[in-house]
Amino acid sequence: MSTPLWEAGADLVVVGTGVAGLTAALRARELGLRVLVVTKGEQPDGNTRWAQGGVAVVLPDQHDEGDSVDAHVRDTLTAGAGLCDEDAVAAIIAGGPAAVTRLRERGAVFDAAADGLLARTREGGHSAFRVVHAGGDATGAEVERALLAATADGRVPVLERHVAVDAVRTPLGQVCGLLVLDADGVPGVLTAPAVLLATGGLGQLYQATSNPEVATGDGLALALRAGAVAADVEFVQFHPTVLYTGRGARGRCPLVTEAVRGEGAVLVDATGARVMRGVHPLADLAPRDVVAAAITRHLADAPGGVDDHVFLDATGIPDFARRFPTVFAACVAAGVDPAVRPIPVAPAAHFACGGVVSDVDGRTGVTGLYAAGEVARTGLHGANRLASNSLLEGLVVGTRAAEAVAADLALGVLARCQGTAELPTAPVADRDSLQRVMSRYAAIGRDAEGLAVVGSVLDLSTADRELDSPRLVEDAALTLAARALIAAAARRTESRGCHVRTDHPARDDAWRRGQVVRLNPSGQPVLADPAAVSRGVA
Ligand code: SIN
Repeated sequence: MSTPLWEAGADLVVVGTGVAGLTAALRARELGLRVLVVTKGEQPDGNTRWAQGGVAVVLPDQHDEGDSVDAHVRDTLTAGAGLCDEDAVAAIIAGGPAAVTRLRERGAVFDAAADGLLARTREGGHSAFRVVHAGGDATGAEVERALLAATADGRVPVLERHVAVDAVRTPLGQVCGLLVLDADGVPGVLTAPAVLLATGGLGQLYQATSNPEVATGDGLALALRAGAVAADVEFVQFHPTVLYTGRGARGRCPLVTEAVRGEGAVLVDATGARVMRGVHPLADLAPRDVVAAAITRHLADAPGGVDDHVFLDATGIPDFARRFPTVFAACVAAGVDPAVRPIPVAPAAHFACGGVVSDVDGRTGVTGLYAAGEVARTGLHGANRLASNSLLEGLVVGTRAAEAVAADLALGVLARCQGTAELPTAPVADRDSLQRVMSRYAAIGRDAEGLAVVGSVLDLSTADRELDSPRLVEDAALTLAARALIAAAARRTESRGCHVRTDHPARDDAWRRGQVVRLNPSGQPVLADPAAVSRGVA
């Protein structure tokens, strides 16, 4: 179907209303750009709202003795298990203090300690208390509230309930607009010389996730179809502690923030034995990949192998309800009082460490296409993200991406276009089958045989469909993301960070490099030749 042209009149279309998207939109407006924000849901529907722990940042005038930006960089590199881009890490972490200051100027209120300075907590992999938080454990909600309030003057229009389907491109492949569908499947084209993807992650690849319903990998799929490349997609971080609400949990599960362990809680099994004792020098505050994998191993090794959850003993934390109101409310709703009994928890899909390859200014390899936040792979996270570095990345890269768009517009390198776009046809798998096999064979603990099963099930349940409804756009994105992930996971014959291969349990430094995925001419995700990647071309 050919679609009508809507002249958006914008210099920049931002897709997504999370921290990266709203930060970019606000900065672009400050720079005098005309911005339109598009979201497939309603404004507060993204991942940002659910972030609990906080923003990892070393502020110049308030930090632990001996802590520094360099120490934060070191912790990030350690957590990333050898696959971070060191320049990207240095640039993004160094941008943290200014980003947090700007956010506070925009109205975000962080929790204060008794001395009047910002309260700081600690999470897994951090060598110091440097995570600033809001509302106890409601940091994402406060960040989102402040950013939405700052956009509420009408100068950043938001088009709700429109899903981004594809980039519109010139004959030379430059992005010059966006094909969208409304909730009823009515298509339209928004023309703009710059499109910024800030669409979040892909937790819905799995049956149980901390992510909301909207986290279906749409931006990753759109970028690949537009000719961009992705990397590190095999590294999906599982959060060690989502609230266990019963066998066979589905969809978004309530998070139990790692800051609960930062304040002294410990993981125990059904017999009361400590799960993390002897596993890592930081014990319960080891990096997240280590803790999630240790829980999974502990459960598999339990007599009879029947347990599917462990417990977080937070009974020693004074005034739990005041410090962690969001977690407390979720526990109470599940019939657990964390002050008197350990919280049942299990790992669940949480964060895509990889994504669309982009630099720290959000530029992808496709002119006019930018990415920021979880959808992007800047190299900050490597094989495993350090806790509370994601809001930080969204704030820093969101700002820088808006500045990059302004600079590229001023240089005249972006394209404007006219015309219409066709709704694409793409392979679409059955979502339930996909989530089932991804959870069974491509979560923590993968092997060649299981990954091949995922491929076969996807083959059997996939059909080519015209993407003429929001649900089909999402399902096509999940299908493409799953295909890319299993291709990369099957080829990486080692265990590193969030990628745990039971048939290759050791780290192999021949694999100390990222894998790049692109689409071949028939639209299938393929891995670039490793030799080509090491020469820096995909
Ligand atoms: C948490 O609070 O444990 C999650 C925060 C994050 O993903 O960084």
